[in-house]
Amino acid sequence: MRKINVAILGATGLVGQRFVKILSNHPFFEIKVLTASERSVGKKYKEAAHWLLGGSPPEQVSDMVVQETRLESLKDVDLVFSSLPSEVAVEIEPKLAEEGFKVVSTTSAFRMDPLVPMIIPEVNPDHLSLIEKQQEEKRWKGFLVTKSNCTTMPLVIPLKPLLDSFGLKKVVVVSLQALSGAGYPGVQSLDIIDNVIPFIKGEEEKLQTETNKILGEPGKPLNIPISASVNRVPTIDGHMLHVFVELEKDADVEEVKKVMREFKPLPQRMGLPSAPDPVIQVREEEDRPQTRLDRDYKDGMGVVVGRVRKCSVLTVKFVSLTHNTVRGAAGGSILVAELLREMRLL
Ligand SMILES: NC(=O)c1ccc[n+]([C@@H]2O[C@H](COP(=O)([O-])OP(=O)(O)OC[C@H]3O[C@@H](n4cnc5c(N)ncnc54)[C@H](OP(=O)(O)O)[C@@H]3O)[C@@H](O)[C@H]2O)c1
Repeated sequence: MRKINVAILGATGLVGQRFVKILSNHPFFEIKVLTASERSVGKKYKEAAHWLLGGSPPEQVSDMVVQETRLESLKDVDLVFSSLPSEVAVEIEPKLAEEGFKVVSTTSAFRMDPLVPMIIPEVNPDHLSLIEKQQEEKRWKGFLVTKSNCTTMPLVIPLKPLLDSFGLKKVVVVSLQALSGAGYPGVQSLDIIDNVIPFIKGEEEKLQTETNKILGEPGKPLNIPISASVNRVPTIDGHMLHVFVELEKDADVEEVKKVMREFKPLPQRMGLPSAPDPVIQVREEEDRPQTRLDRDYKDGMGVVVGRVRKCSVLTVKFVSLTHNTVRGAAGGSILVAELLREMRLL
């Protein structure tokens, strides 16, 4: 079976490096083009990327020459993964889709566009039906699909089985977000060592609006009240959330754990290569999940939930954790692409 040729835009960044690592040994996709900023163009990948994932870049890409981030660099490419800064993505992603490229983006540039599906394959694969309308209304030969913000992921995945079984009335969420969420070099060391910063620009709004968009029907967000409060903490990878939920139907803690444990959505039933099974691991220890111990569950693609307990204000509360640059970014986008292929959209 011929592999699908892919390009990674922003390949030298923190998310780009995760794409390179996962895609260098993928059954469906083959890396053909790597792009980055002017700083990197013309250099070999191993010289341009400040490699942060341990060891060295995979052999098959280390001598590839980094290309300019423009249409002309993408000869022979079918699928484009975009991990550019949003302000760059906003210009190039629609041009690519217009020209016929299939684009899966990790950036926030078009997530809230009503014609752009924001896909978590376990939660809203049906939103891919928006692609047809997108192509018609925007007159694009290709298409653009996004995934959610990295912090939305550990919220939405455990909320989905709760929504399906008990209904959701309101959600309060407090995040503890890792440094890699800010890209490289990110937050200055003297600002974050021995510190917690109780603000990340735009993040609370994203958690609130993205969650409703994903949990709703295609083109019709859910519209439940969600109140988010975010923090940057001195961990390297892994976003942890404290989640407080009011359910429509009353449910006890054991019922909540059961529906999360038994959640077996489409990608897992299809057996997609990057789909973690089970996608939610529910732990019983009183002090788990912990960022360092649990972020690599299922190679960073799963969600670890723990401390599920009764809430004295709402119905139930729990802690949820995922790896932000794997499930929250590159791995999550690759799973979207695997789903697109399985649905014959690639
Ligand atoms: N980090 C996360 O956990 C995370 C999670 C979800 C989504 N995202 C999103 O993913 C995107 C990338 O994030 P990141 O953390 O990987 O950031 P990063 O480490 O700062 O990497 C940015 C990448 O974009 C390239 N770039 C910068 N300016 C450019 C320009 N003008 N033209 C072309 N390429 C340019 C950089 O190339 P050079 O190396 O040449 O400068 C680098 O490859 C962002 O939109 C971010 O919001 C990040």
